[in-house]
Amino acid sequence: SHCTMQGKAITWLLIIGIAIIKSCEALSNTIEAPSLTSPSDAPLDYSAIETKFSVRSPEEPEEDLCYLVPGRPETASECGFNPARKTIAVIHGWAVAGFFDSWVYKLVAALFEREPNANIIVVDWLDRAQHHYPNSAENTRLAGQDVAKLINWLEAELQYDLSKLHLLGYSLGAHVAGVAGNLTNNKVNRITGLDPAGPHFEYANELRRLSPDDATFVDVLHTNTKGSPDFSIGIQRPVGHVDIYPNGGNEQPGCTFQNAMKMIATFGINNVDQIVKCAHERSVHLFIDSLVNRQQQSMAYRCSSKDAFNRGLCLSCRKNRCNNLGYGVNKVRRARSTKMYLKTGAQMPFKVFHYQVKAHFFSQKNLILSQQPILVSLYGTHGEKENIPLILPELNTNTTVSFLLTTDVDIGELLMVKMLWESDSFFSYFRDNDFMIRRMRIKAGETQAKVSFRAKDAEFAHLVQGGDAVTFLKSKEDQNSRRRERLHRRKMHGSFFKQGQNEAAIA
Ligand SMILES: *[C@@H]1O[C@H](CO)[C@@H](O)[C@H](O)[C@H]1NC(C)=O
Ligand SMILES: *[C@@H]1O[C@H](CO)[C@@H](O)[C@H](O)[C@H]1NC(C)=O
Repeated sequence: SHCTMQGKAITWLLIIGIAIIKSCEALSNTIEAPSLTSPSDAPLDYSAIETKFSVRSPEEPEEDLCYLVPGRPETASECGFNPARKTIAVIHGWAVAGFFDSWVYKLVAALFEREPNANIIVVDWLDRAQHHYPNSAENTRLAGQDVAKLINWLEAELQYDLSKLHLLGYSLGAHVAGVAGNLTNNKVNRITGLDPAGPHFEYANELRRLSPDDATFVDVLHTNTKGSPDFSIGIQRPVGHVDIYPNGGNEQPGCTFQNAMKMIATFGINNVDQIVKCAHERSVHLFIDSLVNRQQQSMAYRCSSKDAFNRGLCLSCRKNRCNNLGYGVNKVRRARSTKMYLKTGAQMPFKVFHYQVKAHFFSQKNLILSQQPILVSLYGTHGEKENIPLILPELNTNTTVSFLLTTDVDIGELLMVKMLWESDSFFSYFRDNDFMIRRMRIKAGETQAKVSFRAKDAEFAHLVQGGDAVTFLKSKEDQNSRRRERLHRRKMHGSFFKQGQNEAAIA
């Protein structure tokens, strides 16, 4: 009962929080918004800048030691700003507490780890970001104008090459970066939006929010887009060239309600804001992961929908359909923004391996089943992962089922697969449901390898509800059939005879 009480408390806090945001939003929508003035129209007035630009050092990544001041070129050399080098500017979000969240210094430290020679700047607009949400949201324009002035000044005064500039904005900070990118005299190389804020921006004009026009390349991570668009903490619509929705974008592993209860039990109810922010801030930690765990680079895949992705239908890397998540993203730009998906683990390193499993389920009986629990075990050249739990939404006679499977273990090349059909505990006496499976096809997203498997000891594996696991082995014919396919393709393209007769003999 202790637990349920606290659960209710959280729910109420969330509801109240959202209600406040909504009512303030309604209020502020009636206020006439000031128009944007381009710095190129007006004479540059650096005295109006309120935002501070802290140049951080690798030795003390958490300390504000020196500020870059537009209009005062001596501050660049004082702060050790090197105009020849890459610059990464970190922009925080809503800051009710009035100080930096702890992720800021973690991100700065990770940036230095990856780019030890870069200029790392923390944009401090705390004074304008600690008000009620709608006011702070409105202030993103002013902060953005300040950042644009800094950038234009760096370019004019230090001949800074904007193709070396990368803006990283979290939550409201993503829109600050967007406004800034739109007001600079020349294009900034890259803006990364880390779960750009949703309330106030979901339906906002492109000039007020992050959009693909704001930099040569804009990439975005969406990690907390739960609920209807009006209520979502993170923006739901794609706002960059590449928009990645880890775990579908709405909720993140380790940020569930059960986890929240555990955290409250450990740290007390005062940490409720941390819990609310868990999925929102996950965007930052995924980015940090991409900086420091280069050997465990997460891959995202282009897909038309979350559901298609969850059925394993989108693990292709052809024509840039897959991309790296985070710092090492490939700068692929299309006319329309691209939605990409991936699964992740609950903590760093977040990388998981994705597989599409496809099998045809035969039966003499006409079975139409839903929500069937199965366990799949994968065995490969590097390792194994046993009993990966999965719910098949539909399992019908004589249909092909395709589903997505993930492992946190690098299995290497797949050699063997086992499948077990768990009985529904309520009807465990009911055991005469069964299917025959001849073969299984598995495609690995990370390696793009396609392997087909055959039932181990017979032509068909006999999968019984509540019965034993069935085993499939990598099919030996695989290699031959691939060669046949290749030859067939060549033949179709008319180049077969030019390749000589030797291959014909092999075929
Ligand atoms: C600013 O945004 C508008 C609207 O998206 C776009 O047309 C314009 O080209 C942008 N300007 C710059 C300098 O990026
Ligand atoms: C399913 O297909 C198999 C083989 O193609 C056939 O023998 C069987 O009758 C079919 N089952 C049903 C219920 O139609």
